[in-house]
Amino acid sequence: MKIISDIQELRDHLRGQNRASFVPTMGNLHEGHLSLMRLARQHGDPVVASIFVNRLQFGPNEDFDSYPRTMQADIDKLEKEGVYILFAPTERDLYPQPQEYRVDPPQQLGDILEGEFRPGFFKGVCTVVLKLLSCVQPKVAVFGKKDYQQLMIIRQMAKQFALPVDIIPGETIRAEDGLALSSRNGYLSSTERAEAPELQKALREVRARVLELSERNVHSLSEIEKMAVNALAGRGWQPDYIAIRQQIDLAPASNESLQAGEPLVILTAAKLGKTRLIDNLEI
Ligand code: PAF
Repeated sequence: MKIISDIQELRDHLRGQNRASFVPTMGNLHEGHLSLMRLARQHGDPVVASIFVNRLQFGPNEDFDSYPRTMQADIDKLEKEGVYILFAPTERDLYPQPQEYRVDPPQQLGDILEGEFRPGFFKGVCTVVLKLLSCVQPKVAVFGKKDYQQLMIIRQMAKQFALPVDIIPGETIRAEDGLALSSRNGYLSSTERAEAPELQKALREVRARVLELSERNVHSLSEIEKMAVNALAGRGWQPDYIAIRQQIDLAPASNESLQAGEPLVILTAAKLGKTRLIDNLEI
């Protein structure tokens, strides 16, 4: 595997490759990321991965400084997956001048859910993803469904800018107890780790209630959301949201959309101790 940090060198290496697939990451790779590498290979060759902890998407009180950086272990994993190029720019390589041009996603998608609790997050994500796509120029790029809203926003960005890239979704990979794999799981203490699968259980509970609701009117959708938030809070979590949304645009689901059989998704973010976890479940 070739490890490249310089944009021009990357372009020189990829010249003439018009079937490359790309998986951008922030490193600290786990099985979830590796499954994206395998999916990328099915859609285009060679596979290019990137590791870059993007300061622009972290808020001032977030974990940019403590975000786990495990470059050598990551390199070993990517080599085993047969990744062709690892693009691992420094901040100076990727942002040689202050990145003053930014991509601002529309409010109705960028300022809700994660965007409400992490102001500026999606602006930072879109800006770096557009830049990485411009550096790599892949035929396809793969993003995990665990970051459901991110995936949707990046898809819309690619569409609106007519970027010549297909955005491919990768399924969430879970530990045996149901916890979605995430680099931030490493922050959990052993007691918190034992509690963490409750987040996925809460989503399953919400799904069961929503399905029950579509058959007989037991609770309203907002009551279901509130009950789930209270149940998690009662277990010591600090939930930011549990939201039942339409898959198509992440707008709040209504009884009409439920009756019409619209595909829905339940999204959540909640803090356990100091660790903020996100997850989602499609209905
Ligand atoms: O999902 C992530 O790891 C990051 O948000 C991404 C897409 C690599 C952009 O920094």
